[in-house]
Amino acid sequence: MSEHLMRNYAPLPVTFVRGEGAWLWDSEGRKYLDALAGVAVCGLGHAHPAVAEAVCEQARTLVHVSNWYHIAEQEALAARLTALAGMDRAFFGNSGAEANEAAIKLARLHGRARNIERPAIVVMEGSFHGRTLATLTATGNRKVQAGFEPLVQGFVRAPYNDLEAVRTIAANNPDVVAVLVEPVTGEGGVQIPDDDYLPGLREICDANDWLLMLDEIQTGIGRTGRLFAFQHSDIVPDVMTLAKGLGNGVPIGACLARGPAAELFQPGAHGSTYGGNPLVSRAALTVLEVLEEENLVARAAGLGQRMFEGLKSELGELEGVREIRGCGLMLAVELDRPCTDILQQALEAGLLLNVTAGNVVRLLPPLIISDEEADQIVAITSRLVRDFLA
Ligand SMILES: Cc1ncc(COP(=O)(O)O)c(C=O)c1O
Repeated sequence: MSEHLMRNYAPLPVTFVRGEGAWLWDSEGRKYLDALAGVAVCGLGHAHPAVAEAVCEQARTLVHVSNWYHIAEQEALAARLTALAGMDRAFFGNSGAEANEAAIKLARLHGRARNIERPAIVVMEGSFHGRTLATLTATGNRKVQAGFEPLVQGFVRAPYNDLEAVRTIAANNPDVVAVLVEPVTGEGGVQIPDDDYLPGLREICDANDWLLMLDEIQTGIGRTGRLFAFQHSDIVPDVMTLAKGLGNGVPIGACLARGPAAELFQPGAHGSTYGGNPLVSRAALTVLEVLEEENLVARAAGLGQRMFEGLKSELGELEGVREIRGCGLMLAVELDRPCTDILQQALEAGLLLNVTAGNVVRLLPPLIISDEEADQIVAITSRLVRDFLA
């Protein structure tokens, strides 16, 4: 454990030195099956040859210039992403939190354009939007906020998956200008809202001239079995944020917008030194190409179904298992008790998974896993949960 790193992380006792596909090797030469993918980042697995080649080639050509100049790779990425999402324009930063900061700033400009002095954004209980001051304020988890007060003003909270609560806010708060919401919660424990939730939010936003802003940082880039999770419904958001799977580990965040929201940033309004530089843009473009060439989004849907059914049949009836949830390759086994101890046991069993919200075992495997690897993840997870509850 380094004496020279701040203590904000509590890493498990392992150091990985190499990866390939869904597998990682530690410094002792031990092999692990990765059902976490760097928390929904490495959708194409580790050391994907096409991404590795693109990053190396771009590094040999041009890594960084500055947004003072045109960047062809960034323009190509913006064109591709907006076409895929049905959006108009993109802004690029380096992380999920930074993408959400851009969305929050767009909402405030949208409010100003409507002559609202103190614009407010509806955010949800149990949500996670990042660790910067504005995004931790937007986050619906006191643990993330504690100690960092004073928080940022201009957020109103509603329970997740509760349209009536948002309607009540609409009726009572004329300062609201936007809703920021995850289509499926990630850190909040893989809560999957009712089918009418996003369409209902879309309707409320339309009726009140609010922006519908979707945080697809964890759900995006194929994770849920659609390229973007909103594509499970027939709505389109006004603003969408992406990060994680977009770069397969190369740091990139994106804020996409449509219609008038896409015109709100004018020169000087926002920026990021590294945002969308040639290296990260080339990596993200390659990720999108590979997803398409290898048909990985449909594959994620099929694998997700296979794993969900596997977990259901192995653990569905077990006492202590509250619920099994799945949306593509976002899978969760909610237990009736805190279960972070399972992390160490999983590590010893050669499996990387995650526990979120205290009692939810979460699986976020790469989209490139084979059927056999998917079955192996289900089998080991089921054994670990059974042993843990015994
Ligand atoms: C839904 C969601 N939004 C935002 C973030 C923050 O992203 P980052 O850690 O890249 O700032 C995360 C990270 O877990 C996330 O899951």
